[in-house]
Amino acid sequence: MTSTQEEIDLSYSVSNEFFELWLDKNMHYTSAAYDRPGMTLEEAQENKLRVLYDMAEMDASKTILDIGCGWGSALECCSRFGAKEVHGITLSTEQAKYCWDRNIPNAHIWIKDYALFEPEKKFDALISIEMIDHLCSPAQAREGKAIELYRAYFNKLAEWVEPGAAFGFQAILRNRIPRRRKDLEDLAFTADVIFPGGLNPRIEELVCAINPKWELESLIMRRTDYRATTNEWWQRLMKNEGIIREKWGDQVYEDYDRYLGTCVRAFDNHWSGDVQMKLRRI
Ligand SMILES: C[S@@+](CC[C@H](N)C(=O)[O-])C[C@H]1O[C@@H](n2cnc3c(N)ncnc32)[C@H](O)[C@@H]1O
Repeated sequence: MTSTQEEIDLSYSVSNEFFELWLDKNMHYTSAAYDRPGMTLEEAQENKLRVLYDMAEMDASKTILDIGCGWGSALECCSRFGAKEVHGITLSTEQAKYCWDRNIPNAHIWIKDYALFEPEKKFDALISIEMIDHLCSPAQAREGKAIELYRAYFNKLAEWVEPGAAFGFQAILRNRIPRRRKDLEDLAFTADVIFPGGLNPRIEELVCAINPKWELESLIMRRTDYRATTNEWWQRLMKNEGIIREKWGDQVYEDYDRYLGTCVRAFDNHWSGDVQMKLRRI
């Protein structure tokens, strides 16, 4: 594991109430999918889940596991769209408490590192949304360990389903490297202060790492969708500047203002991207 439980708690535990001020109502902390003109953030987040639910070939007779379930947004959507049981694991204590309090029908949530998770029975389908960026640190990537670490994740998940099972997977990506010092500093700030221990994978690393257990059946690139999502989060953060400064202090506001502004520039300039993949267990 790269991001430790302490680092995860740093990333997600400023306060649930803080994130409620600028995320959508269902608390998705990942890219939405703006597939139709004029969609609101709420509609695009619901649509993102519909795409992943379909990629996972879910229906009301099936059980699904969400690896890195955040505040339970995907569990809530899958339960509502139709599922026999929805299961989730997260490393964040605050997120797990929030999930439990939501009382999602037929939901089971654990605070667990995926690498140590040992389910009692197999699942029919899997979903995992922007969790893989917590698995390899910049130092490990420099040592050439990225593909090996991502493959360990894909191999482990393969043990939890039968051959033929479908997996709706989404990942934030890194692509080009900015040239200006200020841009490099802003990206380093995001990695060190907001998401310590993490690194966004490159798409070619993921395509290598799914082998030998998974086949890539289709993919949708979501760079411009993530630009729109982070921009909407940023606008909502700025609208709540007064409350945030008062309740959580100037530093929290300024850190998140810098982080979200950097995200928008990162997607605009192709430093970062995002992908949804439909994978099938071989
Ligand atoms: C960016 S959040 C995404 C949350 C959620 N999937 C969503 O769409 O809002 C990443 C999630 O991965 C979880 N996570 C990171 N490393 C993990 C690990 N080793 N095992 C289980 N969960 C992990 C974090 O606790 C967090 O819930």
